[in-house]
Amino acid sequence: MDGSYYKQMIDLDRLPKHIAIIMDGNGRWAKSRKKSRTYGHKAGSKALEKVLNAADALGISHLTVYAFSTENWQRPKDEVDSLMNLLRNYLKKYLRDSDKNNIKIDILGDKTKLDNDIQEQIRELEIKTSGKSGLNLHIALNYGSRDEMIRAVRKMGQDILESKLNADSIDQDTISMYLDTKNIPDPDLLIRTSGEQRLSNFLLWQIAYSELYFCDKLWPDFDDNDLYKAIYEFQNRNRRFGLI
Ligand code: FPP
Repeated sequence: MDGSYYKQMIDLDRLPKHIAIIMDGNGRWAKSRKKSRTYGHKAGSKALEKVLNAADALGISHLTVYAFSTENWQRPKDEVDSLMNLLRNYLKKYLRDSDKNNIKIDILGDKTKLDNDIQEQIRELEIKTSGKSGLNLHIALNYGSRDEMIRAVRKMGQDILESKLNADSIDQDTISMYLDTKNIPDPDLLIRTSGEQRLSNFLLWQIAYSELYFCDKLWPDFDDNDLYKAIYEFQNRNRRFGLI
């Protein structure tokens, strides 16, 4: 099937505004080639670039990708180091290319635990791309949904103590505004690759009404057409948001 098969069937007037992706399977992809896990993550970062460009060209407004979870620190040190180095290169490349594209980048997650130079790169990139009007890329880094909720509840408690927030007035919108994703619409579509069917502590509040799409391909093999296929399937689902 050629690469544009699903693209031509997509209704451009009903695109999901926000797609979230759990990019799973880099390790297995590398293992099947008798390569290191780092090799798999490098291939994964190339796949991300392709999918990002395809989503941007199609007119998707928000793309959130799970790059490093709060649990990923427990992986072997050399794998954590190589993921962080990959991230450094990725951020550097986007800083360099930011004049050439229209992508706006920000980071979800607890940035305070990242190395200082990475925090500095993130600050620079967030500032440099803040005026862009194209796709918003949200990279979840040292992100975990429960950690995000804990940080939000602490901040709400503090704001109540300081009389900046009235406990009785807390509603769904208030909670959304205390999460890392404040001002970002909830995902319409969540994609997870590699055949695993779990949420792995990703955007648990935000995906309350998202369509879930699981695909068997390992992340480094996921390409433009797989993205179009997921969007096409999304458009053929019946979203009811709890109504009939
Ligand atoms: C899951 O595959 C993937 C990750 C934990 C990292 C995702 C990172 C990338 C795609 C790299 C690029 C991202 C940026 C922003 C630089 P896994 O290692 O759990 O695979 P496995 O389940 O097959 O072992």
